[in-house]
Amino acid sequence: MRAVEIRTFGGPDGLAVIDLPSPVPAAGEVLISVEAIGVGGVDTVIRSGALAGFGFREGHIPGNEVAGTVTAVGDGVDPAWIGRRVWAFTGEGGGYVERTAVPVEKLLSLPENLSATDAVALGTSGMVAHFGLAHAPFEAGESVLVRGAAGSIGIMTVQLAARGGASAVAVTTSSSERGDRLRELGATHVLDRSGAGDGPAGYDVIVDIVSGVDMPSFFDRLNPNGRMVVVGVVAGMPPADFGAKLMATFRKSLSFAAFSADSIPEPDRRKASAEQFAAATRGELRSVVHELLPLEKAVLAHRKMDDGEVFGRIVLTP
Ligand SMILES: NC(=O)c1ccc[n+]([C@@H]2O[C@H](COP(=O)([O-])OP(=O)(O)OC[C@H]3O[C@@H](n4cnc5c(N)ncnc54)[C@H](OP(=O)(O)O)[C@@H]3O)[C@@H](O)[C@H]2O)c1
Repeated sequence: MRAVEIRTFGGPDGLAVIDLPSPVPAAGEVLISVEAIGVGGVDTVIRSGALAGFGFREGHIPGNEVAGTVTAVGDGVDPAWIGRRVWAFTGEGGGYVERTAVPVEKLLSLPENLSATDAVALGTSGMVAHFGLAHAPFEAGESVLVRGAAGSIGIMTVQLAARGGASAVAVTTSSSERGDRLRELGATHVLDRSGAGDGPAGYDVIVDIVSGVDMPSFFDRLNPNGRMVVVGVVAGMPPADFGAKLMATFRKSLSFAAFSADSIPEPDRRKASAEQFAAATRGELRSVVHELLPLEKAVLAHRKMDDGEVFGRIVLTP
């Protein structure tokens, strides 16, 4: 079967299409014939080599979510799974493939009227957005700023904050056209990447998907008792001395937190995703798919991600 691996760390051209034996589901696993693969921002970060310190090596197959149909089951798995349409979290990688064997506890059955494409656009990003907001914690009536809102996690955070009763949902983005699209999804104020623009004077919660050198400048935008949650590092790690900047705001009693979905137990993640899939079928959440591309075009997908032209999710189809 076809798969895509990171042959060499660096630019998108380091991705290569390879041929692998079709996996056989082990005990407790199902085999999924993949129809849609979500391309996440984290895939490009891993491909760049920036996460080598976290154990990612050349030869890694990126992709942490797929959707498709179960075609076989391993020992101990109910054969009733065969033929079911499912979404699956594949872990730290392994998703850029035609078929994959996944432990049955990582599956979610798809509602009848949710496509595989919609499922991978909503799945991991919606789950990260949900628990990122909860980590703040965000409560109805509070104001929220989503930094880096045009990516798949940001788009879901905007929708969930609006749906959760935020008094204001401001976003940072690089163009007014993106700002208009974010307004359609629930944003009330559109700022530029530096945070300049017509927004509230301060925010109760900032969800930061960007981080990087500019992150500490956003502490000044938090209200007293405000909370910043960093869920992504699209612009790299913050400066090493960001804690000094936070301490300079001591009298505002601000909180800073990093959030990784790795800290959320698997059943809780699946429950959140199942609720979001159901909400999407009722029209309460929207999946935003930038483009569908064949698996062989993974290099192009990553180039588009690196060039910053993606609004929402690119989805690969085997
Ligand atoms: N916490 C978790 O559990 C978890 C799980 C999965 C992934 N992640 C992390 O989430 C991140 C990817 O999220 P994503 O796919 O939603 O993001 P993304 O699409 O890669 O980027 C989000 C947006 O950030 C803006 N941006 C890019 N570079 C910027 C810069 N230098 N300064 C300011 N804004 C910039 C861009 O929008 P504009 O051009 O409109 O400004 C972009 O659309 C990765 O860091 C990944 O590691 C975290």
